[in-house]
Amino acid sequence: PTATPVGELIVDWYASAARDLPWRTPEVAPWAVLVSEVMLQQTPVARVEPVWRVWTARWPTPADLAAEPAAEVIRAWGKLGYPRRALRLREAAIAITERHGGVVPSDVAELEALPGVGTYTARAVACFGYGRRQPVVDTNVRRVVARLVHGRAEAGNARAADLADIAALAPEDDERAVRFSVAVMELGALVCVAGTPRCGACPVRDRCAWRLAGAPPHDGPPRRV
Ligand code: ADE
Repeated sequence: PTATPVGELIVDWYASAARDLPWRTPEVAPWAVLVSEVMLQQTPVARVEPVWRVWTARWPTPADLAAEPAAEVIRAWGKLGYPRRALRLREAAIAITERHGGVVPSDVAELEALPGVGTYTARAVACFGYGRRQPVVDTNVRRVVARLVHGRAEAGNARAADLADIAALAPEDDERAVRFSVAVMELGALVCVAGTPRCGACPVRDRCAWRLAGAPPHDGPPRRV
């Protein structure tokens, strides 16, 4: 019998274990997804949530934010930290309004050309905002790949192959592949955490190269997990 692909197991796990976060509901606009991803770059979920609600209610489209004075946008950023992100988001809103007719682009290259939007954020918007099959790699995903695929305890530096590694695990079905992208992030955030992971709660613990290798630490002899 063929084993269930790990990508499918991770998607099934997500259905039962994921956090209920407001930017993950299907009707959320790509613009609101972009706002959430910029806020989440350097600020924990719990602090982002209330500010994201205020922002998306007050500026429901890029044109709304583009029309706002910079000082007001900084003020509304509140205590999220790294307030330059607020200015970049306003600049992105202006660029979307001027260059894209007010519609957030769905193309990764066009997204990456926006102020403050790197390869992670561009792929997150294409995938979570537009439902495009797209590998999305953040530090949590890199740690899952390091352990599950490569048998290493921690992620180390970003690698050119990270995108291909995670794309290779994605389910064939496009809708499930989209869910897989957020599911791997969630697995890394909740279960396959840095340091001591919660392997007892992991849907792919029996398929994990790192555990199969005896869960070796960065260096030194194997230990039990
Ligand atoms: N869901 C989608 N993107 C996310 C992120 N960056 N952090 C937490 N949950 C998310």
